[in-house]
Amino acid sequence: MATAGYDLVIVANRLPVDVSLDDNGEPTWTRSPGGLVTALEPVVQKSDGAWVGWGGSADLELEPFDADDMRLVPVALSEDDLTQYYEGFSNDTLWPLYHDVIQPPTFHRQWWDAYQRVNRRFADAAAAQAAPGATVWVHDYQLQLVPKYLREQRPDIRIGYFHHIPFPPLEIFVQLPWRKQVVEGLLGADLIGFQRGGDAANFVRAVRRLTEHTTRGQMVTLTDANGRVERHVRAAAFPISIDSHAFDTMARTPEVQQRAKEIRTELGDPKVLLLGVDRLDYTKGIRHRIKAYGELLEDGRLSVEDATLVQVASPSRENVGAYQQLRDDVEILVGRINGDYSEFGHPAIHYMHHSYPMEEMAALYLAADVMLVTALRDGMNLVAKEYIAARSDDRGALVLSEFTGAADELGGAAILVNPHDISGLKNAIMHAVNIDPREARKRMRRLRRRVLENDVANWSNTFLSVLTAVPVRSSHV
Ligand code: G6P
Repeated sequence: MATAGYDLVIVANRLPVDVSLDDNGEPTWTRSPGGLVTALEPVVQKSDGAWVGWGGSADLELEPFDADDMRLVPVALSEDDLTQYYEGFSNDTLWPLYHDVIQPPTFHRQWWDAYQRVNRRFADAAAAQAAPGATVWVHDYQLQLVPKYLREQRPDIRIGYFHHIPFPPLEIFVQLPWRKQVVEGLLGADLIGFQRGGDAANFVRAVRRLTEHTTRGQMVTLTDANGRVERHVRAAAFPISIDSHAFDTMARTPEVQQRAKEIRTELGDPKVLLLGVDRLDYTKGIRHRIKAYGELLEDGRLSVEDATLVQVASPSRENVGAYQQLRDDVEILVGRINGDYSEFGHPAIHYMHHSYPMEEMAALYLAADVMLVTALRDGMNLVAKEYIAARSDDRGALVLSEFTGAADELGGAAILVNPHDISGLKNAIMHAVNIDPREARKRMRRLRRRVLENDVANWSNTFLSVLTAVPVRSSHV
């Protein structure tokens, strides 16, 4: 069906909407609120674009449909696919491996089989949607084989791939039994984007070590069996961002401003409000942060009469054992600290295990004096950018882990921490709590300049214009 087709096809594990069937068997959908959606929705809407992805529940066999000016092409995943490809290989093999083996990755050959099978399904769906000479943009670690599978079927198209999470150092990556196949899978693309220069460099090192291809700086040269140059692949950094101007505008509305005040009142008007916002994931350093805060209460450097911590931990990947264990660990720790230090009307920690709409998040950011981003490893961390975009009052302080992609961009003006160093983390929190308002303002202005300049439109335009500059191979090569 590669006849008419679409000029731009996005391929991601998730569609920008969660789909379900109504009583008549018709698809109904709600917008899924992730960063990827906000990033790419305007791009797809402006071009004649389609989006290939999973609808969010098992066994949903659906025809392509239109929603919010986008053509959505659902890929069906069975219960087995979800267990083996999504929960298994994507989130219990690749995710921990690519995040510095904070948790030991699990290697199962059956999961690898499922990963290949499902990646092929996504590639087939994308190949069927792409117009001749189209641009196909594949996203993230769940789909690293799609560029190769796609190129086998459609040598006429331009293929971009963006890796939203870290690409690990060679010494860690080589643990993967299927490391060579993954590298070759990615090399099906013309342009491979990473969050940081360091991720791109890690990938190029893996290419050099695991394949026969030659590399020079960011460029990989692929040759055919006779040593003739077949094509070039570029691997480079394109740090992702948020729709900073839209976020800034939303946070300035009277409703959000008013809600921020209400939140502080509802929390008992603390002198200092500390905030953590994360998916409940072991990469986010939630335990380290809570431990540091607990010790500050124990040391008497903070008291519950003056300070409180709000921790929003949105539920994530709840069928994966490591996430279940993490939830238990965090909840035991929160319970212990609240038991030890809370007083009537002054809980030490407000712990919320659910998600909130964007407006409520903006109000929370505005209400918080200190934002704690203490990830042990994170591709970018968009929460840090949202906090900054919300602070048009130039107030607030950001404590930011040096192990986030965001630290590469914002390091100069955020208060950087190594979250493994609990004493250092405690000092950084106290620095943020007691920061001189003039210093805070100076830092926030610098942070805002950066986040408002490099917004998500800038990110996708830059990536797509570099990709478009790649000459399309003529089909007889
Ligand atoms: C990270 C990944 C995304 C993923 C998201 C939510 O940001 O980079 O690819 O979609 O987490 O995780 P989930 O497993 O719910 O899709």
